[in-house]
Amino acid sequence: MSTILGVNAVFHDPAAAVVVDGVTVAAAEEERFSRRKHGKEPVPFSAWELPVEAMRWCLAEAGVEPGDVDAVAYSYDPDLAPTPGPDVTADDWEALRTLYVRRVPRFLATALPGLRVGVDHVAHHVAHAASACVAAPDDSSAVLVLDGRGEVASHLGGRWHDGRLDILASQRLPHSLGLLYEEVTAHLGFRRSSDEYKVMALASYGDPGRFAGVLRERVAATGDGGFRVDPVQLAALCPPRRPGEEWGAVHADLAAAVQIRLEEVVLDLARWLHRATGEPAITLAGGVALNCVANGRLAAEGPYERVWVQPAAGDAGTALGSALAVATRRGEACAPFTTAALGRGWDEAEIEAVLKAAELPYERPPDLADAVGAALAGGAVVGWFQGRSEYGPRALGHRSLLCDPRRAENLGRMNAIKGREEFRPVAPMVLADRAAEIFDGVQPSPYMLFVHRVRPEWVDRIPAVVHVDGTARIQTVDDRDEPLVAAMLRAFERRTGVPVVVNTSFNTAGRPMVDTPRHALECFGSGPIDLLALGPLVVCRSEVAQ
Ligand SMILES: [Fe+2]
Repeated sequence: MSTILGVNAVFHDPAAAVVVDGVTVAAAEEERFSRRKHGKEPVPFSAWELPVEAMRWCLAEAGVEPGDVDAVAYSYDPDLAPTPGPDVTADDWEALRTLYVRRVPRFLATALPGLRVGVDHVAHHVAHAASACVAAPDDSSAVLVLDGRGEVASHLGGRWHDGRLDILASQRLPHSLGLLYEEVTAHLGFRRSSDEYKVMALASYGDPGRFAGVLRERVAATGDGGFRVDPVQLAALCPPRRPGEEWGAVHADLAAAVQIRLEEVVLDLARWLHRATGEPAITLAGGVALNCVANGRLAAEGPYERVWVQPAAGDAGTALGSALAVATRRGEACAPFTTAALGRGWDEAEIEAVLKAAELPYERPPDLADAVGAALAGGAVVGWFQGRSEYGPRALGHRSLLCDPRRAENLGRMNAIKGREEFRPVAPMVLADRAAEIFDGVQPSPYMLFVHRVRPEWVDRIPAVVHVDGTARIQTVDDRDEPLVAAMLRAFERRTGVPVVVNTSFNTAGRPMVDTPRHALECFGSGPIDLLALGPLVVCRSEVAQ
């Protein structure tokens, strides 16, 4: 038996994964345990902080002790990083980061007593790439990684075939599409390395034409598989917005311009890769691959028959990717990724014990999916806590808040419950066999990573999930992969004729998604959520109030 522990810790979103004989048995982000969003501050002097709880839990889930681990894969290679000078505080703390990464074996010895192996450092972008191409269903693919930065690059273009990754292009820093998007995120008053999706949402309200010319001048593919990002004086285009300040047209216009330029360059890079590899499928990872609008354009306008995106495309996914890269190096065949539900799960007895401790009334409906479908059709907001938690930033029907998409007011209601900005859309989950009827150009999208236009005849039927630009970020739900979620959607459809339910992550603003039954109860108690479905057990707010 071969057990590989993958670790991401260097920049942000610390996470762990365990791969046993090529099969991913557990993967989880530290934030779900520590309850600190994104796990830690994205600064070099936090590079030492390991995902201690996630690592311990992943090993326990796999049923192995630290002493049984055959390899530890770490998604950053200090030998590729810039040569450090003597002052570890100089040059943006680069030397301190490298020093901490070299000391990882010592930190691990403290965190996982009994560990007997050293650390395999995997190049950051190779780890991202493996999380996509090794995990994807295709045996061969073009692979595109785009993020803020790795050791010295911000990009990898390659080909995965015959069990190996050929790197065909790599764009060195300072050129970085991810860092440009982060700069714009911070300029627009949002949190860097965290709130980039808010810029994407805001972009839909803007006119890209106002600043697109400047962006096209400064940011471009270079024809050799890479790109350049020349410095952009953002303040000359748009005054910086302070956090919480009202946003205006100028902010939305800047967001729209950077968004459209990102899409154009991603398309150029993907086309270059298609010419270089001839592969019919492309796989994506890196934080930029969480940009569902760019992914949607690539799927619709790009040259590929299939686009597969790793759901944990940000740095959290490099925990899994580094483990898969090391497994591949050891000649192990790796099983394709079939579900993002790789985190913690709870059985009925454990859930019941939490409810009893809270002295809450609860029921066990004979048909949970039907009971929840009925409640949603009747206007309830439902906390839906089922099975194992998701790896990656999206709630995919395991730690979700659900409501009726026919009621336009439900968008504001959800944003109010979660305490988030009004311009943020909520996303729909839809039965896979009905999706093409409602959305344009749908391909299976079980991980909610593509945006599609809502067909005109459906816009007024599901107003809560139609973004201002007429699109929606959809999750398709298949009976085979997600039988309980599909049954709930069918129960809602039987009553309403609409096979769509609003699905947003089960958390409040600034907090990680709920992970345990207790977190779910705390969140349920913090806002007007009508019903909580914790596994097979249901708590109703109206009964709690009696
Ligand atoms: Fe990254």
